[in-house]
Amino acid sequence: MTMSELVPAADLERLAVVANNTMNRERGLNGVNSYARELGLDPLRHLAGLSPAPSWLDLCSGEGRALCEAASALPAGAVLTGVDLVGPLGAVPGPPAPELVVASVTRWAPDRTYDLITCVHGLHYVGDQLGLLSRAASWLAPGGLLLAHFDPDSVRGPDGAPAGRAAVRALRAAGFRYSARHHRLSLRGAREVRLPFRYLGADPAAGPNYTGQPAVGSYYSSVAADGPSKGTGTELADSR
Ligand SMILES: C[S@@+](CC[C@H](N)C(=O)[O-])C[C@H]1O[C@@H](n2cnc3c(N)ncnc32)[C@H](O)[C@@H]1O
Repeated sequence: MTMSELVPAADLERLAVVANNTMNRERGLNGVNSYARELGLDPLRHLAGLSPAPSWLDLCSGEGRALCEAASALPAGAVLTGVDLVGPLGAVPGPPAPELVVASVTRWAPDRTYDLITCVHGLHYVGDQLGLLSRAASWLAPGGLLLAHFDPDSVRGPDGAPAGRAAVRALRAAGFRYSARHHRLSLRGAREVRLPFRYLGADPAAGPNYTGQPAVGSYYSSVAADGPSKGTGTELADSR
């Protein structure tokens, strides 16, 4: 993949690799095919212990099943929002029903903060994953929790060289934790995150990732972490 072949977000989102009918879009809250299993945390139990009006934002929410199940179990004041390029293909139960927004997470932004933000196997299809993670960090409520699956192998430098280790290093420096075993990122508490990378574009033909499903490659160049003149950015070249 050369730089001129990289695909911008608007084009990427029209391709079958980012949304197709073989995707697992129907995870529920608990059980074999579930958010609790994939996240290693039961969202309902987590939210139920928080406040009379807990809030949960699910990025790349698919059918929104987990949110729908949570809506019927949480207090009426709970705020549940899902965002996906493709709206639910099946009927949404309710009331109560979550708000299911049909939009790209690369352009959408909330007008409030959330106690819990999840992205279950969604980043694999987002070109600017690091940009989304940075923005989502600012959408957390004080003490809020962000959980997202992340595949470092999908992060590449301008020449296609692996840049995942540099990305994980920068994410950790910004306060994220990363479990390589579970391919999971977590972040506690809202913060301003500025990662030392500039997004260049996506490779929609990167091939299957660790899930076995075709995913997107995300290309970045390195920039200085504290501004163009300071030169403290993580170099992509040393990422493996
Ligand atoms: C593997 S499915 C996971 C769905 C859901 N999180 C689940 O586990 O049931 C990935 C989802 O990401 C969505 N998606 C891909 N790119 C997106 C984007 N740029 N903005 C919003 N959703 C996106 C797809 O439409 C698809 O529903």
